[in-house]
Amino acid sequence: MSVLKVEKSLYGPYFLAQTEEGKKVKIPRTAPGEIWKGKHLKEDIFQPLTPLRLNYTIRRVGFCGYYPFCGSCQWQHIKPQHQREFKIQLFEEYIGLKPQRVIISPSEEGYRVKTFLYWREGKLGFKKAWFYDIKQPIMDIVHCPLLHPRLNKVLKLLKKVKFPKSLHAVELFTNPQREEVFFKLLFLRKEFPEGDFIKNLVEELLSLKPKDLELSIGIYRGEYLNWESVQVYGNWESLIEVGDYKFLVSPDAFIQPNHYLWKEFIQLIKPTEVYKKGLELHAGIGFFTLHLSRYVEKLESSDIGKESSRLRELNLKLNRIRNVESYALDAYKHLKRVKEVELLVVDPPRGGLTKPVVGLILKKLPKEIIYISCNLESLKKDLSQLREKYEIVKTALVEQFPNTHHIESVVWLKRT
Ligand SMILES: C[S@@+](CC[C@H](N)C(=O)[O-])C[C@H]1O[C@@H](n2cnc3c(N)ncnc32)[C@H](O)[C@@H]1O
Repeated sequence: MSVLKVEKSLYGPYFLAQTEEGKKVKIPRTAPGEIWKGKHLKEDIFQPLTPLRLNYTIRRVGFCGYYPFCGSCQWQHIKPQHQREFKIQLFEEYIGLKPQRVIISPSEEGYRVKTFLYWREGKLGFKKAWFYDIKQPIMDIVHCPLLHPRLNKVLKLLKKVKFPKSLHAVELFTNPQREEVFFKLLFLRKEFPEGDFIKNLVEELLSLKPKDLELSIGIYRGEYLNWESVQVYGNWESLIEVGDYKFLVSPDAFIQPNHYLWKEFIQLIKPTEVYKKGLELHAGIGFFTLHLSRYVEKLESSDIGKESSRLRELNLKLNRIRNVESYALDAYKHLKRVKEVELLVVDPPRGGLTKPVVGLILKKLPKEIIYISCNLESLKKDLSQLREKYEIVKTALVEQFPNTHHIESVVWLKRT
């Protein structure tokens, strides 16, 4: 057991602390200015056991019954304005500049339209944080305050169902503007149920739903990150309206998770000037494409996902946008075949841009780059190379994920 003085938030689930011997270590679920007795777990990570001094200018009591043990939230015990301060500080630490604009989520609850729940040994929920139990058992969750209320309503219904052992996980998605919920039931390939099992399960689920709720169910078979659709019961698309735009969305394509911020986020993503030729990579369903099309004469837009590219194509038609060419393409392949690009917009997955993509950008040298990122680490890594030829001219932080350490950032770069 050691006595630890907590100094500051780190990017991730931990806070930086100092031992009595002056060694820097990491400890989760604490707050700067606090003193804790902690147990050493592994490497430089400690588990908080007994508080010796708590900092109630920063701290509050976590409002969810599963906190602090649930692995999904990391900062619920921190007051919202201080969560924001931590994020601003971390942005500055990683990017070297303060965010010029911070877009705040109007609520820290009910913001998520999508969730992923594991099914293990009769429990449907999230994994417990590893520093409370190394085996990370599933915590049976009956209500998650971050989820849209409609998802919590169906979560209660799901508790009445006895799923088979072969079920791996359930993904839920709701359109916040309609009484619609989409379930994806993910079954492990090698234990996929036979006979009428699925049909009976779907009937059972449908019999539980309230009359005013549209429920669609998709059955998937596969393994980790590789799931193929076997059958869909009900409608598998939904329409959302965000400001001037209409989007067809589907449970099989990415959607920005915080529905409160959709409108402001779309309006944020525009270049600092109007260009003739633009290229948007990682475009998904066209969430930013429609608005971006107003700021370029001609835009090419792509995503590796077939389903999101199909939807983006439909969304361009639905909104009568004619200056965008849309492709289902890998980012590197698309960038390579484009001769000239003035504006480049990228919104890569958590790992950031691949090395070859960064290399190509530095060859093609677009005048302006808008980089949307959900991971400060990978953004920092990519910027360290891009800064050889670019300078940051504008920055923003979007508070997509209250109560978690996740940070959504946007930087605008111009060729030097
Ligand atoms: C963070 S999402 C952003 C999607 C979209 N910009 C939006 O806001 O809805 C990242 C997207 O990158 C796509 N993606 C992943 N790897 C890719 C690759 N190698 N080339 C092109 N797109 C890729 C994913 O399919 C996903 O749609």
